[in-house]
Amino acid sequence: MLRVVVEGCQWGDEGKGKITDFLAQQADVVVRFQGGNNAGHTIVFNGQKYALRLIPSGIFNSNIKNVLANGMVINPKALIDELDSLKKRGLKSYQLFISDRAQVVMPYHIDIDGAYEEMLAEQKIGTTKRGISPAYCDKASRIGIRMGDLVNPTYFAQRLKTALIIKNKELASFGLKEYSFESLYNEYLNIGEKLKKYICDTSIMLNNEINNNSKILFEGAQGAMLCMDHGTYPFVTASSPTASSVPLNAGISPKYIDGVVGICKAYTTRVGEGPFATEICDDIAQQIREKGNEYGTVTKRPRRIGWLDLVVLKHSIRVSGIDNLAITLLDVLEGIDDIKLCYSYNFDGKEIDYIPSTIDDYNKCLPNYITLKGWKEDISNIKKFEDLPKEAQNYLRKIEEITKVNIAMFSVGADRNQTIVLKKIFK
Ligand code: GDP
Ligand code: IMO
Ligand code: MG
Repeated sequence: MLRVVVEGCQWGDEGKGKITDFLAQQADVVVRFQGGNNAGHTIVFNGQKYALRLIPSGIFNSNIKNVLANGMVINPKALIDELDSLKKRGLKSYQLFISDRAQVVMPYHIDIDGAYEEMLAEQKIGTTKRGISPAYCDKASRIGIRMGDLVNPTYFAQRLKTALIIKNKELASFGLKEYSFESLYNEYLNIGEKLKKYICDTSIMLNNEINNNSKILFEGAQGAMLCMDHGTYPFVTASSPTASSVPLNAGISPKYIDGVVGICKAYTTRVGEGPFATEICDDIAQQIREKGNEYGTVTKRPRRIGWLDLVVLKHSIRVSGIDNLAITLLDVLEGIDDIKLCYSYNFDGKEIDYIPSTIDDYNKCLPNYITLKGWKEDISNIKKFEDLPKEAQNYLRKIEEITKVNIAMFSVGADRNQTIVLKKIFK
């Protein structure tokens, strides 16, 4: 396999950053293809912890080309801040490429994100308030600003004027402050100047890499259950984190995707509102939250906790063609006597193993569990599958048996080295 997608199988925060960083050690290119700084990807190596938001997880290796592809929505101020803070922490040489076709998250998008959430009140989505959905809305409304526009002064003026005709009306109708063309124009032209050296046609670049047989990792943000089409709509993000969206969002042909690695926690978490069939709110949930440090990387919100839901996992496997799994945070389950694994739901008196399309119906689904014996041993230093306690081995084998997908790797700690490979991804 040369071109591999790393995709979250749940509601985000599955450890995509960690697994991308691990696999990136053998890759030539790492590509973020959707989302924006709603993502928070944690990487730990050499005793240092980094939380990346917009920048791909290959940035620490100067041989790797890091791409922010056309499917992303980029807040360029946040990007400059992220780069500056990495440089302060020692990042010296790196390769970064930003698609000229990626959408720009403008300040009014952030205002509108907040306003929607406030107006939705009880029905709010619980967004990260980073302006992600309003930026994607403008893309579809054809009034979006793109990264390439910022380096073309005359064209940018025209695009910004057009956008502000509509945006200022919208802001005023929400009782929000309107934006003057001059202040935004000068500020964003300046930002464009700073980022100019990175902005290019990344589709041309990626196709050249493909022609050179480069190893390419596509790093998903969020997770399949937050997909606009296949997730728990409306409690989703505004893009598609699934592997199917990679070709469009990176400007390559679908025939070049060789494999999809699904990243899945050994349990489930969710930040924000929306259905969560296997959610638990007891002492075990708190134990998992503390041991797994389950607090949002971006918003610091405590993450909701639940048992591993294999209906969710099978759904993600189906919509994305996941052919290998990486199970993360297995160490967090240590010390739990009985571990539950959801294999189907009870819905209206029937057993189902799919996800209903409406939230109304999904909220009526009750999980059916099998209970497996847990383990007491600390597994954070193990180096191979056979070192795991029998109970942990059984847990992983059960996941494979029910999903019918191989576990190619699993993870027993946040550090890059705490990763056990059962099957090589890049051949
Ligand atoms: P992402 O958004 O999918 O990249 O995931 P996040 O970085 O938001 O959240 C995953 C969290 O789990 C981070 O704090 C990681 O450092 C941590 N992590 C990843 N893998 C493991 C693991 O196997 N064990 C433990 N204990 N922590 C892990
Ligand atoms: P990573 O890449 C977890 C959630 C938000 C909210 C919903 C919509 O770190 O896994 P948005 O701001 O995107 O409009 O919010 O999606 N969400 C995430 N949850 N991890 C993420 O990213 C997320 N990005 C968005 O909490 O419920
Ligand atoms: Mg995250």
